[in-house]
Amino acid sequence: MASKDELRAELKVLLKERDAFMIAHNYQRDEVQEAADLTGDSLALSQAAADSNAKVIVFCGVHFMAESAAILAPEKTIILPRIDAGCPMADMITAEQLAVEKEKRPGVPVVAYVNTSASVKALSDICCTSANAARVVDSVESESVYMIPDRNLSMYVSKQTDKKMEWWDGFCVTHDMLTPAEVFKAKEEHPGAVFVCHPECAPDVVELADYVCSTSGMYKYAKETEAKTIIVGTEMGILYRLKLDNPDKEFVMPSESLICPNMKLTTLEDVVVSLREMKNIVSVPEEIRLKAVASLERMLAVPREY
Ligand code: 13P
Ligand code: SF4
Repeated sequence: MASKDELRAELKVLLKERDAFMIAHNYQRDEVQEAADLTGDSLALSQAAADSNAKVIVFCGVHFMAESAAILAPEKTIILPRIDAGCPMADMITAEQLAVEKEKRPGVPVVAYVNTSASVKALSDICCTSANAARVVDSVESESVYMIPDRNLSMYVSKQTDKKMEWWDGFCVTHDMLTPAEVFKAKEEHPGAVFVCHPECAPDVVELADYVCSTSGMYKYAKETEAKTIIVGTEMGILYRLKLDNPDKEFVMPSESLICPNMKLTTLEDVVVSLREMKNIVSVPEEIRLKAVASLERMLAVPREY
Protein backbone atom coordinates (compact mmCIF):
# COMPACT_ATOMS: atom_id res chain seq x y z
CA MET A 1 0.00 0.00 0.00
CA ALA A 2 1.29 3.44 -0.96
CA SER A 3 2.13 5.88 1.85
CA LYS A 4 0.31 9.21 2.16
CA ASP A 5 3.42 11.00 0.84
CA GLU A 6 3.55 8.71 -2.21
CA LEU A 7 -0.14 9.28 -2.86
CA ARG A 8 0.25 13.05 -2.57
CA ALA A 9 3.20 12.96 -4.99
CA GLU A 10 1.33 10.81 -7.53
CA LEU A 11 -1.74 13.04 -7.24
CA LYS A 12 0.31 16.13 -8.04
CA VAL A 13 1.69 14.52 -11.21
CA LEU A 14 -1.72 13.15 -12.28
CA LEU A 15 -3.49 16.49 -11.77
CA LYS A 16 -0.96 18.11 -14.08
CA GLU A 17 -0.92 15.31 -16.66
CA ARG A 18 -4.70 15.14 -16.91
CA ASP A 19 -5.20 18.92 -16.77
CA ALA A 20 -7.40 18.35 -13.73
CA PHE A 21 -8.73 20.61 -10.97
CA MET A 22 -9.44 18.97 -7.61
CA ILE A 23 -12.24 20.40 -5.51
CA ALA A 24 -13.45 19.16 -2.14
CA HIS A 25 -16.55 19.88 -0.10
CA ASN A 26 -16.10 21.26 3.41
CA TYR A 27 -17.20 17.88 4.88
CA GLN A 28 -14.53 15.77 3.18
CA ARG A 29 -11.81 13.95 5.13
CA ASP A 30 -8.92 16.17 6.25
CA GLU A 31 -6.46 14.39 3.90
CA VAL A 32 -8.73 15.13 0.92
CA GLN A 33 -9.35 18.78 1.86
CA GLU A 34 -5.62 19.22 2.39
CA ALA A 35 -4.79 17.93 -1.11
CA ALA A 36 -7.55 19.85 -2.92
CA ASP A 37 -6.98 22.90 -5.12
CA LEU A 38 -10.14 24.40 -3.64
CA THR A 39 -12.52 23.62 -0.78
CA GLY A 40 -15.95 25.13 -0.37
CA ASP A 41 -19.70 24.75 0.00
CA SER A 42 -21.88 23.17 -2.65
CA LEU A 43 -22.64 26.51 -4.33
CA ALA A 44 -19.03 27.70 -4.48
CA LEU A 45 -17.85 24.34 -5.82
CA SER A 46 -20.49 24.16 -8.57
CA GLN A 47 -19.51 27.66 -9.65
CA ALA A 48 -15.80 26.84 -9.52
CA ALA A 49 -16.32 23.70 -11.62
CA ALA A 50 -18.15 25.73 -14.25
CA ASP A 51 -15.59 28.57 -14.23
CA SER A 52 -12.44 26.41 -14.26
CA ASN A 53 -10.37 26.13 -17.43
CA ALA A 54 -9.28 22.58 -16.59
CA LYS A 55 -10.40 19.65 -18.75
CA VAL A 56 -11.11 17.38 -15.79
CA ILE A 57 -12.82 18.20 -12.48
CA VAL A 58 -12.19 15.79 -9.61
CA PHE A 59 -15.19 16.46 -7.41
CA CYS A 60 -14.66 15.15 -3.88
CA GLY A 61 -18.14 15.27 -2.45
CA VAL A 62 -21.38 13.41 -3.05
CA HIS A 63 -23.20 12.47 -6.25
CA PHE A 64 -25.59 15.43 -6.61
CA MET A 65 -22.64 17.82 -6.39
CA ALA A 66 -20.69 16.12 -9.18
CA GLU A 67 -23.91 15.92 -11.18
CA SER A 68 -24.44 19.69 -10.80
CA ALA A 69 -20.91 20.22 -12.13
CA ALA A 70 -21.68 17.89 -15.07
CA ILE A 71 -24.86 19.87 -15.78
CA LEU A 72 -23.08 23.23 -15.69
CA ALA A 73 -19.92 22.12 -17.50
CA PRO A 74 -20.83 19.40 -20.03
CA GLU A 75 -17.60 19.90 -21.95
CA LYS A 76 -15.54 18.83 -18.91
CA THR A 77 -14.95 15.35 -17.54
CA ILE A 78 -16.33 15.19 -14.00
CA ILE A 79 -14.91 12.49 -11.75
CA LEU A 80 -16.57 11.53 -8.47
CA PRO A 81 -13.79 9.43 -6.86
CA ARG A 82 -16.35 7.31 -4.98
CA ILE A 83 -19.25 6.74 -7.33
CA ASP A 84 -21.22 5.24 -4.41
CA ALA A 85 -21.10 8.49 -2.39
CA GLY A 86 -24.73 9.58 -2.43
CA CYS A 87 -26.89 11.89 -0.36
CA PRO A 88 -29.82 10.19 1.42
CA MET A 89 -31.74 13.47 1.42
CA ALA A 90 -31.42 13.82 -2.35
CA ASP A 91 -32.76 10.26 -2.69
CA MET A 92 -35.89 11.14 -0.67
CA ILE A 93 -37.68 12.59 -3.69
CA THR A 94 -37.83 11.15 -7.21
CA ALA A 95 -38.89 12.87 -10.44
CA GLU A 96 -42.06 10.76 -10.41
CA GLN A 97 -42.96 11.91 -6.89
CA LEU A 98 -42.29 15.54 -7.80
CA ALA A 99 -44.47 15.25 -10.90
CA VAL A 100 -47.38 14.16 -8.67
CA GLU A 101 -46.84 17.14 -6.32
CA LYS A 102 -46.68 19.55 -9.28
CA GLU A 103 -49.99 18.26 -10.58
CA LYS A 104 -51.58 19.06 -7.24
CA ARG A 105 -50.29 22.68 -7.48
CA PRO A 106 -50.67 23.96 -11.03
CA GLY A 107 -48.65 27.11 -11.69
CA VAL A 108 -46.78 26.99 -8.36
CA PRO A 109 -43.02 27.26 -8.98
CA VAL A 110 -40.80 24.52 -7.55
CA VAL A 111 -37.65 25.60 -5.70
CA ALA A 112 -35.25 22.66 -5.52
CA TYR A 113 -32.41 22.52 -3.03
CA VAL A 114 -29.31 21.45 -4.97
CA ASN A 115 -29.39 18.26 -2.90
CA THR A 116 -31.58 16.64 -5.56
CA SER A 117 -30.98 14.43 -8.62
CA ALA A 118 -30.60 15.88 -12.13
CA SER A 119 -34.01 14.57 -13.16
CA VAL A 120 -35.64 16.30 -10.18
CA LYS A 121 -33.82 19.55 -11.04
CA ALA A 122 -35.08 19.16 -14.60
CA LEU A 123 -38.67 19.30 -13.30
CA SER A 124 -37.97 22.30 -11.04
CA ASP A 125 -38.09 26.03 -11.78
CA ILE A 126 -35.07 27.20 -9.84
CA CYS A 127 -32.45 25.65 -7.56
CA CYS A 128 -31.11 26.99 -4.27
CA THR A 129 -28.48 26.12 -1.70
CA SER A 130 -28.31 26.94 1.99
CA ALA A 131 -26.25 30.01 1.00
CA ASN A 132 -29.02 31.65 -1.04
CA ALA A 133 -32.32 29.87 -0.24
CA ALA A 134 -34.30 32.87 1.10
CA ARG A 135 -33.11 35.11 -1.70
CA VAL A 136 -34.01 32.51 -4.30
CA VAL A 137 -37.51 32.08 -2.85
CA ASP A 138 -37.99 35.87 -2.81
CA SER A 139 -36.76 36.11 -6.41
CA VAL A 140 -39.54 33.89 -7.72
CA GLU A 141 -42.40 35.82 -9.33
CA SER A 142 -45.23 34.06 -7.55
CA GLU A 143 -47.10 34.42 -4.26
CA SER A 144 -46.45 30.79 -3.40
CA VAL A 145 -43.66 28.28 -3.91
CA TYR A 146 -43.21 24.55 -3.39
CA MET A 147 -39.82 23.69 -1.93
CA ILE A 148 -38.05 20.32 -2.09
CA PRO A 149 -36.72 18.16 -0.52
CA ASP A 150 -35.64 19.48 2.89
CA ARG A 151 -38.40 20.20 5.40
CA ASN A 152 -35.94 21.87 7.80
CA LEU A 153 -34.43 24.28 5.28
CA SER A 154 -37.95 25.01 3.99
CA MET A 155 -39.25 25.78 7.47
CA TYR A 156 -36.26 28.05 8.10
CA VAL A 157 -36.83 29.94 4.81
CA SER A 158 -40.58 30.21 5.42
CA LYS A 159 -39.80 32.34 8.49
CA GLN A 160 -37.83 34.82 6.37
CA THR A 161 -40.21 35.33 3.47
CA ASP A 162 -43.75 36.59 2.89
CA LYS A 163 -44.34 33.91 0.25
CA LYS A 164 -46.78 31.14 0.97
CA MET A 165 -44.70 27.99 1.18
CA GLU A 166 -45.36 24.28 1.09
CA TRP A 167 -42.66 21.63 1.05
CA TRP A 168 -41.68 17.98 0.72
CA ASP A 169 -41.02 16.05 3.92
CA GLY A 170 -37.35 15.16 3.33
CA PHE A 171 -34.46 15.71 5.72
CA CYS A 172 -30.74 15.15 6.19
CA VAL A 173 -30.24 12.03 8.27
CA THR A 174 -27.10 13.54 9.81
CA HIS A 175 -28.24 17.07 10.68
CA ASP A 176 -31.77 16.07 11.70
CA MET A 177 -30.34 13.91 14.49
CA LEU A 178 -28.94 16.82 16.48
CA THR A 179 -31.20 17.52 19.46
CA PRO A 180 -31.87 20.67 21.56
CA ALA A 181 -30.75 18.70 24.64
CA GLU A 182 -27.31 18.15 23.08
CA VAL A 183 -27.02 21.85 22.27
CA PHE A 184 -28.07 22.88 25.80
CA LYS A 185 -25.51 20.47 27.27
CA ALA A 186 -22.72 21.94 25.10
CA LYS A 187 -23.81 25.47 26.08
CA GLU A 188 -23.75 24.52 29.76
CA GLU A 189 -20.30 23.00 29.45
CA HIS A 190 -18.97 26.04 27.56
CA PRO A 191 -20.41 29.21 29.09
CA GLY A 192 -20.04 32.19 26.79
CA ALA A 193 -19.84 30.02 23.67
CA VAL A 194 -21.89 30.91 20.59
CA PHE A 195 -23.86 28.30 18.67
CA VAL A 196 -23.80 28.30 14.87
CA CYS A 197 -25.77 25.77 12.83
CA HIS A 198 -26.70 24.67 9.33
CA PRO A 199 -30.36 25.17 8.32
CA GLU A 200 -30.63 21.41 7.68
CA CYS A 201 -30.88 21.04 11.48
CA ALA A 202 -34.34 20.58 12.99
CA PRO A 203 -36.35 23.79 13.75
CA ASP A 204 -36.06 23.38 17.54
CA VAL A 205 -32.26 23.30 17.14
CA VAL A 206 -32.17 26.19 14.65
CA GLU A 207 -34.13 28.24 17.20
CA LEU A 208 -31.23 27.96 19.63
CA ALA A 209 -28.63 29.25 17.17
CA ASP A 210 -26.83 32.58 17.33
CA TYR A 211 -26.27 32.28 13.59
CA VAL A 212 -27.66 29.98 10.89
CA CYS A 213 -25.75 29.59 7.61
CA SER A 214 -24.23 27.41 4.89
CA THR A 215 -20.95 25.65 5.55
CA SER A 216 -18.97 28.53 3.98
CA GLY A 217 -20.94 31.03 6.03
CA MET A 218 -19.53 29.29 9.12
CA TYR A 219 -15.94 30.15 8.16
CA LYS A 220 -16.86 33.79 7.83
CA TYR A 221 -18.80 33.80 11.10
CA ALA A 222 -16.03 32.01 13.02
CA LYS A 223 -13.51 34.63 11.90
CA GLU A 224 -15.75 37.58 12.68
CA THR A 225 -17.30 36.60 16.01
CA GLU A 226 -15.70 37.93 19.18
CA ALA A 227 -16.55 34.66 20.95
CA LYS A 228 -13.61 32.40 21.67
CA THR A 229 -15.64 29.20 21.74
CA ILE A 230 -17.99 28.14 18.97
CA ILE A 231 -20.42 25.23 19.16
CA VAL A 232 -20.78 23.86 15.64
CA GLY A 233 -24.07 22.38 14.43
CA THR A 234 -23.00 20.73 11.22
CA GLU A 235 -20.93 17.82 9.87
CA MET A 236 -17.59 17.46 11.65
CA GLY A 237 -15.50 17.73 8.44
CA ILE A 238 -15.93 21.47 8.76
CA LEU A 239 -13.52 21.45 11.71
CA TYR A 240 -10.48 20.95 9.46
CA ARG A 241 -10.45 24.47 8.02
CA LEU A 242 -12.18 26.12 10.99
CA LYS A 243 -9.26 25.09 13.21
CA LEU A 244 -6.65 25.92 10.58
CA ASP A 245 -8.05 29.41 10.03
CA ASN A 246 -8.71 30.18 13.71
CA PRO A 247 -5.92 28.69 15.84
CA ASP A 248 -6.89 30.96 18.76
CA LYS A 249 -10.49 29.69 18.93
CA GLU A 250 -12.07 26.52 20.30
CA PHE A 251 -14.64 24.55 18.29
CA VAL A 252 -17.03 22.20 20.03
CA MET A 253 -19.13 19.46 18.39
CA PRO A 254 -22.38 19.11 20.40
CA SER A 255 -22.90 15.53 19.23
CA GLU A 256 -20.76 12.61 18.11
CA SER A 257 -23.28 11.72 15.40
CA LEU A 258 -22.58 14.74 13.23
CA ILE A 259 -20.82 12.59 10.64
CA CYS A 260 -22.09 12.09 7.09
CA PRO A 261 -20.96 8.56 6.16
CA ASN A 262 -21.22 9.35 2.44
CA MET A 263 -18.97 12.40 2.73
CA LYS A 264 -16.43 10.27 4.56
CA LEU A 265 -16.20 7.55 1.89
CA THR A 266 -13.60 9.31 -0.28
CA THR A 267 -9.98 8.70 0.67
CA LEU A 268 -6.85 10.17 -0.88
CA GLU A 269 -6.24 6.77 -2.45
CA ASP A 270 -9.68 6.84 -4.13
CA VAL A 271 -8.84 10.24 -5.61
CA VAL A 272 -5.52 8.98 -7.01
CA VAL A 273 -6.96 5.73 -8.37
CA SER A 274 -9.94 7.41 -10.05
CA LEU A 275 -7.69 9.95 -11.73
CA ARG A 276 -5.06 7.36 -12.68
CA GLU A 277 -7.70 5.14 -14.33
CA MET A 278 -9.99 8.01 -15.39
CA LYS A 279 -12.94 6.15 -13.87
CA ASN A 280 -16.10 7.06 -11.95
CA ILE A 281 -17.11 9.69 -14.46
CA VAL A 282 -20.46 11.40 -13.82
CA SER A 283 -22.54 12.54 -16.78
CA VAL A 284 -26.15 13.54 -17.35
CA PRO A 285 -28.24 12.64 -20.43
CA GLU A 286 -28.46 15.77 -22.63
CA GLU A 287 -32.26 15.88 -22.60
CA ILE A 288 -32.32 16.07 -18.77
CA ARG A 289 -29.25 18.31 -18.60
CA LEU A 290 -30.80 21.00 -20.79
CA LYS A 291 -33.78 21.33 -18.45
CA ALA A 292 -31.74 21.05 -15.24
CA VAL A 293 -29.20 23.65 -16.36
CA ALA A 294 -31.95 26.27 -16.63
CA SER A 295 -32.85 25.76 -12.93
CA LEU A 296 -29.22 25.95 -11.87
CA GLU A 297 -28.47 29.01 -14.00
CA ARG A 298 -31.50 30.86 -12.64
CA MET A 299 -30.09 30.19 -9.17
CA LEU A 300 -26.60 31.39 -10.12
CA ALA A 301 -28.08 34.73 -11.19
CA VAL A 302 -29.24 35.31 -7.58
CA PRO A 303 -26.46 36.67 -5.32
CA ARG A 304 -25.47 34.49 -2.36
CA GLU A 305 -26.35 35.69 1.14
CA TYR A 306 -23.06 34.71 2.78
P1 13P B 1 -23.58 23.43 1.85
O1 13P B 1 -24.33 23.88 0.65
O2 13P B 1 -23.71 24.37 3.00
O3 13P B 1 -22.18 23.12 1.50
O4 13P B 1 -24.25 22.10 2.37
C1 13P B 1 -24.37 20.97 1.58
C2 13P B 1 -24.80 19.83 2.37
O5 13P B 1 -24.96 18.74 1.87
C3 13P B 1 -25.06 20.05 3.77
O6 13P B 1 -25.38 18.85 4.39
FE1 SF4 C 1 -26.67 14.77 2.26
FE2 SF4 C 1 -26.80 15.35 4.85
FE3 SF4 C 1 -24.61 14.22 3.87
FE4 SF4 C 1 -25.22 16.78 3.29
S1 SF4 C 1 -24.69 15.91 5.29
S2 SF4 C 1 -24.52 15.21 1.87
S3 SF4 C 1 -27.47 16.64 3.17
S4 SF4 C 1 -26.68 13.32 3.95
